[in-house]
Amino acid sequence: MIQLIDVSKSFNSDSHTVHAVKEVNLTIREGEIFGVIGYSGAGKSTLVRCINLLERPTKGKVLIDGVDLTKLREKDLRAYRQKIGMIFQQFNLLGSRTVFENVAFPLKYRGRKKSEIRERVLSLLELVGLEDKANAYPSQLSGGQKQRVAIARALATEPKILLCDEATSALDPQTTKSILRLLKDVNRKLGITIVIITHEMHVIKEICNRVAVMEGGRVVELGDVVSIFSKPKAQITKEFINSTSNLSKIDELIKEKSQIVDLKAGERIWRLDFHGSETKEPIIVQLAKNFHIEPSIIFGNVEVISDTVLGSLIVLVKVDQEREQEVIKYLEEKQIKVEVIKYA
Ligand SMILES: Nc1ncnc2c1ncn2[C@@H]1O[C@H](COP(=O)(O)OP(=O)(O)O)[C@@H](O)[C@H]1O
Ligand SMILES: [Mg+2]
Repeated sequence: MIQLIDVSKSFNSDSHTVHAVKEVNLTIREGEIFGVIGYSGAGKSTLVRCINLLERPTKGKVLIDGVDLTKLREKDLRAYRQKIGMIFQQFNLLGSRTVFENVAFPLKYRGRKKSEIRERVLSLLELVGLEDKANAYPSQLSGGQKQRVAIARALATEPKILLCDEATSALDPQTTKSILRLLKDVNRKLGITIVIITHEMHVIKEICNRVAVMEGGRVVELGDVVSIFSKPKAQITKEFINSTSNLSKIDELIKEKSQIVDLKAGERIWRLDFHGSETKEPIIVQLAKNFHIEPSIIFGNVEVISDTVLGSLIVLVKVDQEREQEVIKYLEEKQIKVEVIKYA
């Protein structure tokens, strides 16, 4: 378990102080995949570097399994750092060493036996799917393969925690997917707690259990990923979610006065949000049957997060103003959230 207690980190330069992380309190549970999302400059890297004390917090405590790292002597801290692996956007491989030597490096550095190193490195290369690249040099590898080497190297000392700082930000979407799948595998097979920093909501959606949203050095929202997606509170969280769906397109269409949203008297545009598991009834049919309303679907979006389906529909309906509230109430009783986006 990782606990950050009231952690702040400031950087002083000649002329001013940058408060990169401000009073962050966070508990990351054993074995979870925890995401930290925020725009560039939000303080994500600084925060995560506080976890292994690559940055020493200006204030606050960093507890790993109850032990406060900020209180440890250098020698004890080194032992703890072995338990925390890290990977980066730019892979940080040694260009003049082979794949094998890169992965072996942390083991050699710690004076492990040659035969032990060989066995461990080969099994790690197998885990990341690079058995056949042991003798290749980083320059001969694709970005995704380089990140696989970096993951193998980070796992060499059998860490309990893996910190990933924008590990997929330099990769194309397909390769990103395969690296995220590998991380999920590592999490499941080895029981390693993973902390993922990203500025991309689809990365969070793909593999995280919980997420913290950072803005201006602070954690402004925190929760399990399904709740964050279905009920975001902070404005910035809503922006990140919109970036992964096409739903905000409706606002653009309205702004552009598009034909599609040109309403006649009595017509409205609604946004319906539903949880796949809670909404079992054929709601469109029921609207027709019970209220003589026949919504036409303008477009929709479905997110599948963990095993939860979160669906949204933008629909055009014709409904009397007096009856609208009644219909909305009916839908909300069926666990469908209704937002009136535009009315004629
Ligand atoms: N070593 C440093 N010295 C001075 N300022 C820094 C240093 N590291 C980060 N910062 C500043 O702290 C803020 C947060 O940076 P960072 O943690 O890298 O954010 P993110 O990873 O979210 O992009 C930024 O304003 C950045 O310029
Ligand atoms: Mg960063």
